[in-house]
Amino acid sequence: MNIEKQVRTELRSAKPYLPGKPIQEVQRELGLKRVVKLASNESFLGPSPKALSAQRKAAKDVWLYPEGASPLLRRAAAGHAGVAEGQVIVGNGSDEIIRLLCETFAGRGDEVVCSDCGFIRFRQQSEMMGAKVVSVPMKNLKHDLFAMARSVTPKTKMMFVASPNNPTGTYNTRAEVSSLLRSLPKDCLLILDEAYYHYATGLEDYPESTLEFLPKHDNLIVLRTFSKAYGLAGLRVGLGFANAELVSWIDRIRMPFNVNLPAQAAALAALEDKAFLRRCVRETAKNREALASALEFMGLHCVPSTANFLCVETPIPGAELFRQLLRRGVIVRPLDEYGLTRHVRISVGSAAQNKFLLLALKKIEGLFSGRERREEALSR
Ligand SMILES: Cc1ncc(COP(=O)(O)O)c(C=O)c1O
Repeated sequence: MNIEKQVRTELRSAKPYLPGKPIQEVQRELGLKRVVKLASNESFLGPSPKALSAQRKAAKDVWLYPEGASPLLRRAAAGHAGVAEGQVIVGNGSDEIIRLLCETFAGRGDEVVCSDCGFIRFRQQSEMMGAKVVSVPMKNLKHDLFAMARSVTPKTKMMFVASPNNPTGTYNTRAEVSSLLRSLPKDCLLILDEAYYHYATGLEDYPESTLEFLPKHDNLIVLRTFSKAYGLAGLRVGLGFANAELVSWIDRIRMPFNVNLPAQAAALAALEDKAFLRRCVRETAKNREALASALEFMGLHCVPSTANFLCVETPIPGAELFRQLLRRGVIVRPLDEYGLTRHVRISVGSAAQNKFLLLALKKIEGLFSGRERREEALSR
């Protein structure tokens, strides 16, 4: 049997998503004791103890199927976002919702507008459904929403915008998103992926999209996740907010028990622990600024970030820097798949993890700027 011939045409050129390398794999392969992973934008503070305890409590019931549509979490999330319960979809990570959206709306003959350095899953999932991806160049590594709006044609079904964006860390302002929404045709969906929402909410010009835009725009879908600031990446829970009819269509193809029982319980408890979330956002911002200053001091330019990671320009190819750091026990993310061959993405770590990274960087030839060398020589 020629298996490839039997595979759907759209999938033949599909490339699997490359996740950040797991710690255990690097330890095994390189025989290293200490490995620090700064590659998947997980939160260095982990989850709220209340979320962990709710997860443990729920674990005794895992012989039962969970409630299919995560009703308690759905209700609580609706309350937090200021929308009706029917406007919420709970997914196995926001990644599942991206997939469900593409499966529901994008197909052969349709166009999907993305940024060239927008989160890669948008493009991958759209292509898997056979849609044509229209890739719009970013401007200074920020979504150029005007150019994206201009590239909409009668065939455009969806547009994806992550704000803050992964892997650049840049965000779009309230005025920019508002003007994009006003200029989009009513039958073109805008998926506003706010996976890093919590890190940006303190900014005056960052919108509260579910409150400010959703009531006015039936074609808007806002995505959030428990994988970043809530520290629950391993449990896989994401949220989507949209108008109720749209949600009901997505619900039709959602797997019946897509979010497992302990995950629903943990996410619900995480949502309620506002003090922990505030601490996480505060400490992440503090560590991000400290790390960015240290990297800049070494001559490595960081793109201004509003997320829990930094997109860092490197004087050597990013893939080479990735390899060099890996040998020294630090996992970062090369960005070749985005065409950013002179950048790496580094998740913000704890003070100790960031120190370990900086020490590893200092050992790599060709990275130090003259200024750093001089300062080092003077301090000796
Ligand atoms: C912009 C963006 N959207 C969505 C996701 C997927 O998150 P999850 O499926 O863990 O909710 C990520 C993960 O890194 C992301 O960076």
